[in-house]
Amino acid sequence: GGGSRGVFTFLSPLHRGSGSSLGGYSHSYNNGHVSSSSPSGVDRREGDTDGRGSGSASCGSCRLGGDMPFFTKLKLVEAFKRIDASIGLTKRKVVPPSFHECRTLLNLAQILESRSHLRLITMDGDETLYPDGANFTDLRIAKKIAALLQRGTKVAVVTAAGYGYEVQRYHERLAVLFEYFRENHISSEALGNFYLMGGESNYLMQLGPSFTLAPVPEDRWTFFRPRCCPIDSQRLLDVAEEALRRLSEDFKLRACILRKERAVGLIRRPPGLKKADHANGAYDEDESIFGCMHSGGMHRENLEEIVMRVRRIIRDELGPHMDVPWSAFNGGKDVWVDIGNKAEGVAMLQGLFQLSPKECLHVGDQFGASGNDLAARVCSPTVWISNPQETAAVLHELLLV
Ligand code: IMP
Ligand code: MG
Repeated sequence: GGGSRGVFTFLSPLHRGSGSSLGGYSHSYNNGHVSSSSPSGVDRREGDTDGRGSGSASCGSCRLGGDMPFFTKLKLVEAFKRIDASIGLTKRKVVPPSFHECRTLLNLAQILESRSHLRLITMDGDETLYPDGANFTDLRIAKKIAALLQRGTKVAVVTAAGYGYEVQRYHERLAVLFEYFRENHISSEALGNFYLMGGESNYLMQLGPSFTLAPVPEDRWTFFRPRCCPIDSQRLLDVAEEALRRLSEDFKLRACILRKERAVGLIRRPPGLKKADHANGAYDEDESIFGCMHSGGMHRENLEEIVMRVRRIIRDELGPHMDVPWSAFNGGKDVWVDIGNKAEGVAMLQGLFQLSPKECLHVGDQFGASGNDLAARVCSPTVWISNPQETAAVLHELLLV
C-alpha cells in the first residue's frame, strides 16, 4: 500500500478470536504485486459474526475493529453545522442524536471530503438504485449518474445479483437508466465510464456505445485477486447449500434453494410450489395467524440467525486454510452465500483503474453485521443509505463541486 494506488489487501490467515481485526493481515496485493504492508485489509473469508471473536466488531466478509482504516479525513464540523442548521439538533434538550442522524452526519462528512477527488463511485443495486427486487425507474438518479459519467467519473454498479454474463438479465433491471442515456445523447466516451460488477466480484461488464453491456476480458481485471481453486469453491457451496436447507427446515421457512454457478440462495418458495412435509402452513393472508409471519414467511430475525449460523458452519467445516473468497448475507427476503464479496469487487475495480481508496466511494444499504456492503468498507470510503431516495440526495451532493 504505502501511498501507492490500487490497494488490494487480504487478511490471511484470519486471526480468529484474537481480536486483532484488520491489524492482523499477513500479506497484501497491490495492483497484483504482493507487498508486506498496507493501510487497508480485506479478509478473503468470512468474519466472526457470532461473538466468538473478541474486541472487534465483524462483518460478512471482513472484521471491523478499532484499527479500521479511514482513507480520508471527514469534514465533521462542516457537516454538523449544516445538519444542525436544518434540523436544530443542538436545540434539543431531551432526545439525543439518533442512529439515523449520526449515519446522515457521517455520510455528509464523507461526501464533503470525497467529492473533490472522486474518480470512482461504486453503487449497490437493490435498495440503493432501485427498491429490493425491482427494476431501475428513478430518473433523478439517472440524471445524476449521467452527469458523473460526463465529467469523467467512473460509475460501477457492484451488486450481489449474479446472472453470469447473461447481459440481458442485467439490462432488464437497468433498462430505464440506459434509455435515459440514449434519449439524452450521452457520448460514447461517457458511456464507457459505466460498469457493472455482478455476483459481488465475479462478472465485470462495461457499457458500450450501443447502450449494451459487454464483458470486460477477465485477464484485464481478475489478476488483481489471487487464484482460487474451483473445487474448493464448489465444496464451499455444497456445505452452504446443505446448511441452508437444514436451517430452513428447522425454522419452517416457506423457502427453497436456488443454486447457481457461484452462489447458493435460500429464497421464498414461489406460490403453488408446495412441499408435502412443510409443517408451517402460515400465509400472509391468513388472519388466524398471530405473530410475525410477514415477509411471506421469511421472518427477518430468522434470516439473520441463518446468516450467522451458516457462516459458522462454513468456517468450522472448511477450516482456517480454505482460500476461497466468499460472503453470506441477509438480503431482506432471502439469504445468499456467494463466492466472492464486495471487498474484492471494489478492490478489483481500483486495481483496473489504478485508483487509491481515497479517490473512491461505495454507496450501499447493507452495512449491518449481516449485510453485504460492509465488506466494501475495508478498501473504500463508504456512504450508508437506506433507500434510493437517499441515494439521489447523495449524488446531488457529490455533484456540487
Ligand atoms: P444487492 O443489494 O444489489 O447486492 O443485491 C442483493 C440481492 O440480489 C439479494 O438480496 C438477492 O435478492 C438478489 N440476488 C440475485 N441473484 C443473486 C446471487 O446470485 N447472489 C446474491 N444475491 C442475488
Ligand atoms: Mg442492497
